[in-house]
Amino acid sequence: MSKHLLGIDLGTSSVKVLLATTDGTVVASASADYPIDQPQPGRAEQAPDAWWRATVGAMSGIHSEAPGARIAAIGLSGQMHGTVLLGLRRQLLAPAVIWPDRRSQSQVTEITEMLGAQQLYAITGSPVSTGFQAATVRWFQEHAPDLWDQVVMILLPKDYLRFRLTSEFATDPSDAAGALLLDETRRDWSEVLLDALGIRRDQLPPILASGAVAGTLTAEAARELGLPAGIPVATGAADTACSALGAGVVDRSRLLLTISTGGQLVQPCHGVEVDTRGRIHTFCSALTPTEGQAGWYQMGAILSAGLSLRWLRDQVFGWQGRSAYERMTALASEVAPGADGLLFLPYLVGERTPHMDSTARGAFFGLTLAHGQGHLVRAVMEGVTFAACDAYGVLCELGASSQEIVLAGGGARSALWQQLIADVFGIAVAPLKTAEQSALGAVILAGAAAGVLEPADAARRWAHYGEAILPDAQRHAFYGERMAAFRALYARNRGHFEPAAKAQPVSA
Ligand code: XUL
Repeated sequence: MSKHLLGIDLGTSSVKVLLATTDGTVVASASADYPIDQPQPGRAEQAPDAWWRATVGAMSGIHSEAPGARIAAIGLSGQMHGTVLLGLRRQLLAPAVIWPDRRSQSQVTEITEMLGAQQLYAITGSPVSTGFQAATVRWFQEHAPDLWDQVVMILLPKDYLRFRLTSEFATDPSDAAGALLLDETRRDWSEVLLDALGIRRDQLPPILASGAVAGTLTAEAARELGLPAGIPVATGAADTACSALGAGVVDRSRLLLTISTGGQLVQPCHGVEVDTRGRIHTFCSALTPTEGQAGWYQMGAILSAGLSLRWLRDQVFGWQGRSAYERMTALASEVAPGADGLLFLPYLVGERTPHMDSTARGAFFGLTLAHGQGHLVRAVMEGVTFAACDAYGVLCELGASSQEIVLAGGGARSALWQQLIADVFGIAVAPLKTAEQSALGAVILAGAAAGVLEPADAARRWAHYGEAILPDAQRHAFYGERMAAFRALYARNRGHFEPAAKAQPVSA
């Protein structure tokens, strides 16, 4: 039997595991969920043990689908920004604080003022947001000093999973970048940030390339996973970096838009090209910046993409299951573009790009008695698309000039949403055929660790797209006017979200 590669994507709500051959054919896939714990409003935590148990559970699904597969290497992809704190005996000191957590707003302000926004962007490529490791660590220092005194190692989520697999500590530049403690030009921890925040270098793991071997499967982990000990485990990468690999977006010819819980718009770039207005993130990619490879990417991040539609389904319609989305899309397709004047701001949990405003909140604007369920759905889909297009506008302003957008995530599967994106953005949309592009990116990094794949080359060869969806010129012009109204709606209300934000604590 030929050898296989295993990719593990530690997502925000589930772990997805893919088994593929070395030519990119997926032979088995499995996933297992875990909850986001919210012990207090605005907090978002997970039990790292739950990540491990879910990974073991998903692995048993892989064994049933492809019994006896021989695995050459394991690769990892992971939710970004989160914080796992370990003590002297390598024990967990607290639940993991994950990226949607918003307890650290005052630490965000403090770090930005301490470093100065422009210095922060120049070093780390990005503004700091709540839930990012730098801000969370600061929160622990200020609110739990006794616990902080015991911290021997600070890990990102996927790096904790690799620690459970290999017993070794490591991270990679793409995930380290999301901690906001990295000097992105040197791809090493920033002395300036570590000094400013009182973090010792030995409290952070060594940084290895995403496709390097960061350890091998221990006997204990192997027993739990039903695999042989000694399998090489790649360092892996952040989920957005893995997603770009799995979607074949590794140079400036294409942009990637992922519509899942959140939405991310990713444009590969060749240096730490920052936005001095702090509207986007520039992070290291999973590629090493040699031989002309794009070692960084600019990313516009919107927080409530699929989440807005899920909110409408669960909280407003009270419908259940996946089929509810089909029913909702069918209703929306009966409504004309523009939803008869109804606008939706999708800032249900605040917004990153372009506003970096954790106090922003959602709104329906322009409701009349004539608006029904289909209008609400259409307005939500349009609002999410306008928010993504706002991010696209920023990337274009910073030099993006691709002629095509690759569309991935749940939103990529809806024909209505595909056409809407083409019409609003005014460029061709190539729907990605692969459903689990982050896990596929992890498979590619496993291939690099096994020495059988070159990541950029595999990324280009393995990505398959459906027929391109072209924009309609008339609808594009019409949506241009709606976009202007959408932008004005936020701009006019910017100062007025604060009372709502205080009165209604956000749940992630
Ligand atoms: C990126 C971000 C999310 C998480 C999701 O900045 O916050 O995409 O990585 O897993």
